[in-house]
Amino acid sequence: MSGLHVSRAAAKRHSADMTGKNIVITGATAGVGKETARSLAKMGGNIYFATRNAEKTLAVIEEIRSELTNGSALEHKPLALDDLDSVRRFPSLFGEEERIDVLINNAGVSHETGVTKQGIERIFGINYLSHFLLTKGLLPHLTRASGRILNVTSMGHSSARREHFNGPWYGACEEIHPQTLYGRSKAAQIMFAKALQRRFDRNSIRCTCTSHHPGGVRTRIFDTYGLALKVFIFVLWPVLVEPPEGARTSVYLATRDRPEKTGGKYFYYGMFRKGIYEKPGTELVNDEALQERLWTVSEELVGEEFSIGADRGATVTARVS
Ligand SMILES: NC(=O)c1ccc[n+]([C@@H]2O[C@H](COP(=O)([O-])OP(=O)(O)OC[C@H]3O[C@@H](n4cnc5c(N)ncnc54)[C@H](OP(=O)(O)O)[C@@H]3O)[C@@H](O)[C@H]2O)c1
Repeated sequence: MSGLHVSRAAAKRHSADMTGKNIVITGATAGVGKETARSLAKMGGNIYFATRNAEKTLAVIEEIRSELTNGSALEHKPLALDDLDSVRRFPSLFGEEERIDVLINNAGVSHETGVTKQGIERIFGINYLSHFLLTKGLLPHLTRASGRILNVTSMGHSSARREHFNGPWYGACEEIHPQTLYGRSKAAQIMFAKALQRRFDRNSIRCTCTSHHPGGVRTRIFDTYGLALKVFIFVLWPVLVEPPEGARTSVYLATRDRPEKTGGKYFYYGMFRKGIYEKPGTELVNDEALQERLWTVSEELVGEEFSIGADRGATVTARVS
């Protein structure tokens, strides 16, 4: 095994002082996202819950607040990831001069078929495309803080097929198995992290973007699986971990020293050999030409150019020298 390895015990012990750090987490109402919010709040971070259900979010905020002994701020910022207009509005919920230290693109669906408000295939739209636009919108805030972007992806990215990166992007894509669609969305998150990090590096921007598989985690994400895959998960259930352990890779990558060592890389929380491992990911996600083509397709789908620094001549508003 090459590259970074953090043992299960070390990942559990890991802590950092996040006092005063501003952290945006999508999908923080449940599962991995909720536990990530809890851990980072206990470390002193201010948590912005980027979520769609106000009632559910406020209940989670109250639960976490009741456990805090520090002055962390916990705040709901509405965000529906199946609607690009909601994503486009989201950055205006922050002051222009505000800093965001960490953005965790965590929310996700597994086999939730259908389309988004804009008619885009739903799994790709929620898991990847909305996060592409969200990252673009928050980049000035992140750049100001030399921030970190974490894409919570999946080992399921290996189900992606090359031909589906030519589309289709619109419509429910019922002819494609939902696991293949999930794989496409998760592969796209890893490719995005790599392409974004390349732009940061080329422009000497001290932000980082990583992607990671959080482990096999006992959450509700499997509820939309068909019967055969539900049986598969039932069999695997004993080796899956509880959400606090599923949050450990997010917490570690959000808080570890020397984030520049992790930029662009893919990490994996082991299913059998528990702990955090650096992994190469599949050949597909490492294809630079495909990463760049996905970037262009994503710009077309959201209807906005996403240029950084010298890349295509545009500028990021706050560049760190
Ligand atoms: N669990 C695993 O074994 C596993 C394995 C590999 C990767 N992952 C990845 O880990 C991440 C978290 O998954 P999880 O297992 O914690 O799932 P989960 O418990 O089902 O939580 C999913 C979260 O995403 C939010 N969400 C779903 N659709 C949304 C939408 N349209 N707009 C806004 N928010 C939306 C949900 O919000 P609501 O509460 O409003 O529904 C919820 O907060 C996902 O990206 C998933 O792909 C999980």
